[in-house]
Amino acid sequence: MANAWFETVAEAQRRAKRRLPKGVYGALVAGSERGVTVDDNLAAFAELGFAPHTAGLANGRQTATTVMGQQISLPVLISPTGVQAVNPDGEVAVARAAAARGTAIGLSSMASKPMEEVIAANPQTFFQLYWVGDRDLMAAKVERARRAGAAGLIATLDWSFSYGRDWGSPFIPERINLEAVRRYAPQVALKPAWLWEFAKTKKLPDLTVPNMVANPGDPAPTFFEAYGMWMQSPMPTWEDVAWLRELWGADKPFMLKGVMRVDDAKRAVDAGVSAISVSNHGGNNLDGTPASIRALPAIAEAVGDQVEVLLDGGIRRGSDVAKSLALGAKAVMIGRAYLWGLAANGQAGVENVLDLMRDGLGSAMVGLGRESVADLCRDDVVVPPGFERYLGVDQVADAPVESVPARHRGGRG
Ligand SMILES: Cc1cc2nc3c(=O)[nH]c(=O)nc-3n(C[C@H](O)[C@H](O)[C@H](O)COP(=O)(O)O)c2cc1C
Repeated sequence: MANAWFETVAEAQRRAKRRLPKGVYGALVAGSERGVTVDDNLAAFAELGFAPHTAGLANGRQTATTVMGQQISLPVLISPTGVQAVNPDGEVAVARAAAARGTAIGLSSMASKPMEEVIAANPQTFFQLYWVGDRDLMAAKVERARRAGAAGLIATLDWSFSYGRDWGSPFIPERINLEAVRRYAPQVALKPAWLWEFAKTKKLPDLTVPNMVANPGDPAPTFFEAYGMWMQSPMPTWEDVAWLRELWGADKPFMLKGVMRVDDAKRAVDAGVSAISVSNHGGNNLDGTPASIRALPAIAEAVGDQVEVLLDGGIRRGSDVAKSLALGAKAVMIGRAYLWGLAANGQAGVENVLDLMRDGLGSAMVGLGRESVADLCRDDVVVPPGFERYLGVDQVADAPVESVPARHRGGRG
């Protein structure tokens, strides 16, 4: 390729679309049902503006911070995603890229590479768990993560098994067999560069999920076998969250990912977590959930002094990172942005995306006159009226009048 470097995430996305078979690209775009939430995650960032200064701008760009006990060079982490079949090195390439840029990653339970390999590539790895199976199986996976040296755990519980997509779900094969080859062949034949990446490894994409088992090397289920088991598992309770947190170790970093409501954020604090991510699963879960950035200010206000508050959903540029920090996040996590970078240019593509995040954040800080990420604050952003959402606010008095339905307003109307 003449110049593999790309200057925005939008360009990485265009290249990913050109390079990947249609079904694989479709799985990355995702977004459930009508796509209201996935669209709102992006629209909300566009609604937020900046209030820049003219002179006396910042000279330094201090982007380093600490999240979940890890010192990282920028407040942008890799969110856990199953990157099956995007690139033969998958999560290992992502882990190396993050290590090269000095940041941490979340490794999905649904990932294609064993946690031991990923942690060897980047010791700043948090292992992400879904609630699959019973407490015994959960405990076995936690012990495996401990033995492997995971720096922390992420429990993702916001999944409601929605599957209808108006734009049509991509066909994802159970395993790469003759039927899959037949159905994928026309798409794959049009994407020789992607096929060549796998051909070089002399292996077809392996659609198993090796982190779903208790020991490294145990026979791993396929993605769909694991998904079936997950669907049959009881939904976890807040007691389960507290149990899992305690099992991991009350003094060890533990994040609950997928919090959208103030009351849930408070329950998460009660369950003892050390961090939360305000997240709607990138719009892949319950469609109609508002953009996570709209819910962030109320949650950060309620629990930000007790736990680390992160945000994920819709981050496509460094200025989105600045906006999130200004509205109360300690750091953000990115999903699709790095998946597109990975698809476009492997490890270097993920490094490219992290560089864009750092540079864009840096430019915003210069313009806003903030030398350190810790100094970004609400004064730096223009928040239009009605932008925020106050979900699960038990005391109506906590929320501004216009956000409270008339029937709850009582004397405040
Ligand atoms: C293809 C894809 C797979 C994902 N898989 C997981 C997963 O296995 N575990 C998890 O906690 N979140 C998963 N997510 C959600 C991301 O961690 C993150 O919340 C979301 O992508 C953030 O939104 P963004 O893509 O707009 O950055 C996935 C997201 C995508 C797009």
